[in-house]
Amino acid sequence: MKVTVFGIGYVGLVQAAVLAEVGHDVMCIDVDAKKVENLKNGVIPIFEPGLTPLVKKNYEEGRLHFSTDAEMGVQHGEMQFIAVGTPPDEDGSADLKYVTAVARTIAQYMTSHKVVLDKSTVPVGTADKVRAVMEETLKARGVDVSFDVVSNPEFLKEGAAVSDCMRPERIVIGTDNEDIVDLLRELYEPFNRNHDRMILMDIRSAELTKYAANCMLATKISFMNEISNLAERLGADIEKVRMGIGSDSRIGYSFIYPGCGYGGSCFPKDVQALIRTAQQIGYTPRILQAVEEVNQDQKLKLPEFIYRHFGENLEGKTFALWGLSFKPNTDDMREASSRVLMEALWERGAQVQAYDPEAMDETQRIYGHRSDLKLMGTKEAALQGADALVICTEWQSFKAPDFDAIKKSLRQPIIFDGRNLYDPERLSKRGFVYYAIGRGASLNIA
Ligand code: UDX
Repeated sequence: MKVTVFGIGYVGLVQAAVLAEVGHDVMCIDVDAKKVENLKNGVIPIFEPGLTPLVKKNYEEGRLHFSTDAEMGVQHGEMQFIAVGTPPDEDGSADLKYVTAVARTIAQYMTSHKVVLDKSTVPVGTADKVRAVMEETLKARGVDVSFDVVSNPEFLKEGAAVSDCMRPERIVIGTDNEDIVDLLRELYEPFNRNHDRMILMDIRSAELTKYAANCMLATKISFMNEISNLAERLGADIEKVRMGIGSDSRIGYSFIYPGCGYGGSCFPKDVQALIRTAQQIGYTPRILQAVEEVNQDQKLKLPEFIYRHFGENLEGKTFALWGLSFKPNTDDMREASSRVLMEALWERGAQVQAYDPEAMDETQRIYGHRSDLKLMGTKEAALQGADALVICTEWQSFKAPDFDAIKKSLRQPIIFDGRNLYDPERLSKRGFVYYAIGRGASLNIA
């Protein structure tokens, strides 16, 4: 099947590569000529396990193409994916200018029936807007070509994007036209074997499903972070509580890890966007607002521990920081807790020596101008001469470090752990002062 994907960002590129891998003929269109050129040369703009070989292979085998030529893109695909960004507006609502620009482009050049699939996370009602923009453009051209707009949200996780896309748990399709369902089944057939993962619904329900899924997951995290704050004050251990409640199959073990707050390109943006949507229709979304507030506070948890220990003036102090990306297996630093932490430390005069297995270039790009940040080549180097170690991301390589070496390298054996990687008792026996999230022990030490 011929497919066109507008927007070679995270979602667009992964989706395109995976569709090409199963045999579809996929044309990717982006306005960024440099990105397109790089992709043709096998340079992938993001770090994502398995993506580089997949893109290279399918490009070389001729099923995956990259271009800036929008007209050619429109001619190519019977299926036209919109996978461009929806950055937050100043007020937190999703900015649809890129989505509507693609809709206009498709209508500008189409000469035969097209199915337009919204992959971007877009507010409820966007499909109607896309349709309206396309109708208006077609009318201005004076042509009468039919089209369908489908809501087909993406649920991939960064760090596992390729496998999530290859083996989706569900394929949500929002359409108002039964006649195109067969076409959509054909498109997704290779991902829909053994049991039917396609969930068909009306367009608005599909659009809301995406937000509801992300907001539910964000709610689980903020809920656990709230309980962790209670645990800390009550002398309980949130890690025990987590296991205790996770064993209830109605609750489950996933997404109940307390920490130094959620980040990334989805949760913060989507929670804020749904809050805005609710407010625009005169509804006060109390739970969502609390989810957002708890998360913002949680990102200040590690700085608070640090002030508690060292006082608010951190002039002359150096902190080793392990983990910069918003989660492991990505170089993405959007809304990362590490940024809130570093900015808080810098504001109080501290120096930061940071290490991350993948996000060093990204950190350099964002903070390279700062003289109070040193990017270190290894996690061991980051420790040298620092007053304490702070952990923001749970990379595998941080999970079983050489504690004796840490003790030797740091000026004082202090660890502020935003991801609860270690056993407080064991660390205490080894002579460490260990602050972690929601573990009564960290309060007792303080
Ligand atoms: C998320 C959704 O999982 C995905 O389905 C959607 O399509 C896009 O948004 P992603 O942003 O890649 O994916 O990351 P995810 O693995 O969900 O983690 C988000 C954040 O929550 C990270 O900062 C992570 O550290 C944090 N988190 C996750 C917790 O703090 N505790 C948890 O139990 C789980």
